[in-house]
Amino acid sequence: MIQAIIFDLDGVLLSTDELHYAAWKTVADELGIPFDRQVNNRLRGVSRMASLEIILEHGGVVLSPEEKEAVATRKNDRYRASLMTLTSEIVAPEVRETLTALKQRGLKLAVGSSSKNTKLILERADLASYFDAVSDGTNITRSKPDPEVFLKAAAFLGLSPSVCAVVEDAVAGIDAANGGGFLSIGIGDAAGYSRTDRPIRALSELLQMV
Ligand code: BG6
Ligand code: MG
Repeated sequence: MIQAIIFDLDGVLLSTDELHYAAWKTVADELGIPFDRQVNNRLRGVSRMASLEIILEHGGVVLSPEEKEAVATRKNDRYRASLMTLTSEIVAPEVRETLTALKQRGLKLAVGSSSKNTKLILERADLASYFDAVSDGTNITRSKPDPEVFLKAAAFLGLSPSVCAVVEDAVAGIDAANGGGFLSIGIGDAAGYSRTDRPIRALSELLQMV
């Protein structure tokens, strides 16, 4: 019996892909590294530093740890500035309706995201009030596919993973959910992944599962 649902943020509740893309693109241009949406897609669900490693490897550029820190900070400053333009309109009505209906049915809801900017995004998108717990990049030491971010979310809710489902759009997130003993629900790219327990095409399909 599912008592709680833990949602990945980016690609599930909303998409900041384009804002990440614009911020990484400026930084990559400064480093003379070719960067396009195909490379950007490889960064979904990946931590900030791991994203930078992928970009540097793609461009064949080697930086010292200090230089990497400086570049990651520059990217994040640009990204956070762009988040200030974000409004509640970034969230589809179907997402709000589904979250409201799930809460009405007595389910606990949480967010499990790699992003250290999760709380800012939830505030800007006017989503914070739907959730009983938030586990994000600020409270983990290991990124997805490690289950840590979801295990922390379940612990914050005071529930065992066996009564929680995780909704993810990234393969690494599905592996994290499965590794932690959660029911994995896949949307978008993750709906076509062989290890996903339950594929869905729209978030509202959750209402038929609980
Ligand atoms: C994930 C995004 O939600 O957060 C990734 O899908 C991003 O693209 C990661 O790199 C880390 O985000 P932040 O906000 O901590 O730089
Ligand atoms: Mg995602």
